[in-house]
Amino acid sequence: MTDSLLSVRDLSVTFRLPEGEVTAVDRLGFDVAPGEVLGIVGESGSGKSQILFSLMGLLAPNGRASGQALFAGQDLLAMTDTELDRVRGVSMAMIFQDPMTSLNPYKRVGDQLAEGLVVHKGLSWRAARAEAVRMLDRVRIPDAASRARRYPHEFSGGMRQRVMIAMALLVNPRLLLADEPTTALDVTIQSQIIDILAELARDMGTSIVFVTHDLGVVARLCDRVIVLYGGRIMEEAPADILFNAPRHPYAKGLLDTTPRIAAPLTRRLDIIPGTPRSGGAMLPGCPFAPRCASRIAACEAVQPPLIGIGPAHRTACHLIGEAP
Ligand SMILES: Nc1ncnc2c1ncn2[C@@H]1O[C@H](COP(=O)(O)OP(=O)(O)OP(=O)(O)O)[C@@H](O)[C@H]1O
Ligand SMILES: [Mg+2]
Repeated sequence: MTDSLLSVRDLSVTFRLPEGEVTAVDRLGFDVAPGEVLGIVGESGSGKSQILFSLMGLLAPNGRASGQALFAGQDLLAMTDTELDRVRGVSMAMIFQDPMTSLNPYKRVGDQLAEGLVVHKGLSWRAARAEAVRMLDRVRIPDAASRARRYPHEFSGGMRQRVMIAMALLVNPRLLLADEPTTALDVTIQSQIIDILAELARDMGTSIVFVTHDLGVVARLCDRVIVLYGGRIMEEAPADILFNAPRHPYAKGLLDTTPRIAAPLTRRLDIIPGTPRSGGAMLPGCPFAPRCASRIAACEAVQPPLIGIGPAHRTACHLIGEAP
């Protein structure tokens, strides 16, 4: 794809541990077009967060990313910290799973938001604070002007999550990486945030990579979905195709656990029998084989390649043949 904003090839993330090296993300490739919302779904430990951390240059000290991640043509994985700093918080922003990781407890919330605009966009403090209040209002923080003068501990968990979202949106990034940004929120607020993100993608052309357990959110927000298991792509498809005609046994299992797409947004996917394999040494076959009811001998011996089975539809399963 030549018009991609983000083009990831052969992305692997490994961690060094005393007992050896573990692979959390295994040779992934995917593209995100301008204004597109890509969902990444998968169970806990499947590698979702590490994909985003590697793109932001925020892996733990024992982690290492390899491969290529072209963002507007420049490889994020090859950038120095200084170069990355110019991209992070300006044209690429991330909303974290845990809101406290990126809020400073000693600074007023409004000032923390304004700071990015002053530092990266050259606004005056006065103008930046006004923008911050406007954005807090937009993510439905009640009484935003006076709230902006308070400290993070004076906010509830759900409100801190909304502050994080405001902070990421404020710089008007070209790419927003969102790691389970709505799971801590109540259903009504969650729904409002999803609307805000959808609006952003539509009106501002912001691309979003949205990581989640929640298939209801995916159905509402995402254009395309990657189903991740054991650090590998099991299936990738336009959202409507994935929901109506999933092909990979794992994707089918996930969707069976979600009886109706319109089900409550809080529905989580965790009901396939068996235990997900944690990021240990990579076994030779398909990571899902030990839990797969349809497995054949080849599944445990040979890793199935990711093959095209339709327009923008790929899957990695020995039981499914290539599109004619
Ligand atoms: N610093 C680290 N050292 C060793 N292994 C790590 C480290 N950080 C993450 N991992 C491993 O990487 C794998 C993928 O983790 P990741 O955080 O990406 O999962 P996730 O899909 O985001 O899960 P969740 O839904 O629980 O957030 C896990 O097996 C995890 O234990
Ligand atoms: Mg995670």
